[in-house]
Amino acid sequence: MTSLRAEPLIREDQLRERVDQLAERIVADLGTETPLVLAGLLRGCYVFMADLARALCRHGADIEAQDFIVCSSYGDGMTSARKLDFRMDLRTDIAGKRVLIVDDIIDTGHTLLAITEHLQAQGPEMVRSVVLLDKPERRETRVEADYVGFTIENLFVVGYGLDFAQRYRDLPYVTVVEEGE
Ligand code: IMP
Ligand code: MG
Repeated sequence: MTSLRAEPLIREDQLRERVDQLAERIVADLGTETPLVLAGLLRGCYVFMADLARALCRHGADIEAQDFIVCSSYGDGMTSARKLDFRMDLRTDIAGKRVLIVDDIIDTGHTLLAITEHLQAQGPEMVRSVVLLDKPERRETRVEADYVGFTIENLFVVGYGLDFAQRYRDLPYVTVVEEGE
């Protein structure tokens, strides 16, 4: 049996405040002059990206496209190396563009590493990444996100776009999945 911890790990007001801070930082670093392409990793990114895009807009960012990649990672059963299965790629031509990868969480880092390499191969001017959550204890790669909302312990979390077997993405806050008897 699994259950959700009643007390949120990250409340709605904390999410709102932190997303706004992230947008402010990103705009301070990247400027308002050069257009930015947001590249979200579905499905986990969708709530965070919707809020982040509007926060970036409020801070004066010039977002020329919001696009998505759908992929899932799976182990091949033989090694610990993960393979990434692309179901849908960006439609935007990112050659010469500034790209910001948007994801819900960086865990082992295999996804962010593979997506970064995949996008770099398309000749962008620059690729940066932003994740709402970071679980550094779980890292199996040397990749880090450029911008992190919250660093958390090794807990399985849901809400604000993150799921457990497709459930709980609609929770407006982030909470912890707990194993019960
Ligand atoms: P990575 O390749 O191990 O970094 O995997 C990142 C992906 O695993 C995220 O985009 C999520 O879809 C999923 N994931 C990792 N940790 C959690 C969690 O605590 N809750 C929900 N999904 C998670
Ligand atoms: Mg994901």
